[in-house]
Amino acid sequence: MLSGRGSNFEAIADAAARGEIPNAEIVAVVADIPSAPGLERARHRGLPAYAIDRNAFEDRRAHEREVLRVLESARPDIICLAGYMRILSRTFVDAYPGRILNIHPSLLPRHAGLDPQRRALQEGDVESGCTVHVVDAGMDTGRVILQRRVPVLPGDTPESLSARILVEEHALYPAAIAEVLAALPPPRV
Ligand code: GRF
Repeated sequence: MLSGRGSNFEAIADAAARGEIPNAEIVAVVADIPSAPGLERARHRGLPAYAIDRNAFEDRRAHEREVLRVLESARPDIICLAGYMRILSRTFVDAYPGRILNIHPSLLPRHAGLDPQRRALQEGDVESGCTVHVVDAGMDTGRVILQRRVPVLPGDTPESLSARILVEEHALYPAAIAEVLAALPPPRV
């Protein structure tokens, strides 16, 4: 699920195509913003891509109901938030307990929430990084699966730090997905 450019989605799709995430198949790409470039990238790859416009629904609950309906037919084992810029309700999270992952550009629990790279610089952090975690009903609070560190360098701007972290995100997310999938119970036959 994404809301924007979709570089993490592409990194995941590339890693899956290279066989680096065993037994992985992307069954749906869902965006809450129809103009999200990531959605176009998904269509280009021939993946099932769904624009479910957050502004076309009365409230978050109604929007989530439609997302859940689409997911129900796609039947994913796990859901990966990749730049999905909307907090999920408890109802949504409870529909896939322990099976929703998110990537965040900080070393959680440090700098949960918006603009973590800017805050890392403002607070004089000497290192930063990224985290893949399980999603719970809080904001960036669920169990950490994997992290990667990067240094904060003199003269860094939020943009330069974000770019350094993003390189690591693209390796971290596929690795975390592979770990989570390997730990899932085998499918019932
Ligand atoms: C990434 O920095 C991710 O950590 C954060 O949102 C950004 C999404 O980038 N949650 P992209 O859309 O995957 O390029």
